[in-house]
Amino acid sequence: MAYINIQNVELNFGGTRLFDDIGLNVEQGERVVLVGRNGSGKSTLLRLIEGSVKPDAGNIAYPKRCRCAHLSQMVPQALPGTVLDVVSGDSRGNEDSEDKRQQVNIMISRLGLDAERFFNSLSAGLKRQVLLARALAGKRIYFCSTNRQTIWTSMR
Ligand SMILES: Nc1ncnc2c1ncn2[C@@H]1O[C@H](COP(=O)(O)OP(=O)(O)OP(=O)(O)O)[C@@H](O)[C@H]1O
Ligand SMILES: [Mg+2]
Repeated sequence: MAYINIQNVELNFGGTRLFDDIGLNVEQGERVVLVGRNGSGKSTLLRLIEGSVKPDAGNIAYPKRCRCAHLSQMVPQALPGTVLDVVSGDSRGNEDSEDKRQQVNIMISRLGLDAERFFNSLSAGLKRQVLLARALAGKRIYFCSTNRQTIWTSMR
């Protein structure tokens, strides 16, 4: 059984069928790049996998111990706080999350970010890197719906 297993998925928006009996298997450790024309359904497929969109038919399964992170195509213009605040999300100040704090610091360091800079002062590309660090911290699997530069960076 594949790590991520998508079988016979069908999805309609209004009267339009976007996915008709699609399937995908992803093995543990495998990296998948999804390529397609604008509007062909790439982001929607990622939303199906993360569970924010439900299929009209079919099954999507991955191990319960996995948490899914989806990096949105949209970069928010403004978020309060520093790089550390944004990457930490809601775990900052939580007594039980030493492990998460470590993962946050590791991710900031791996992406070469300055933890003390204010998110709102960063360039669009650096904001995307910060959001990538937030998406990856503490996750076993991840999906990017993003531009090539960020994907290459995440694969370094
Ligand atoms: N919530 C929704 N309600 C109705 N239609 C939707 C919804 N979400 C997506 N769609 C439609 O589904 C199709 C696929 O959209 P999606 O955003 O998945 O495409 P994409 O391949 O990611 O495109 P892009 O390359 O531009 O990012 C589009 O025609 C879009 O208009
Ligand atoms: Mg998209």
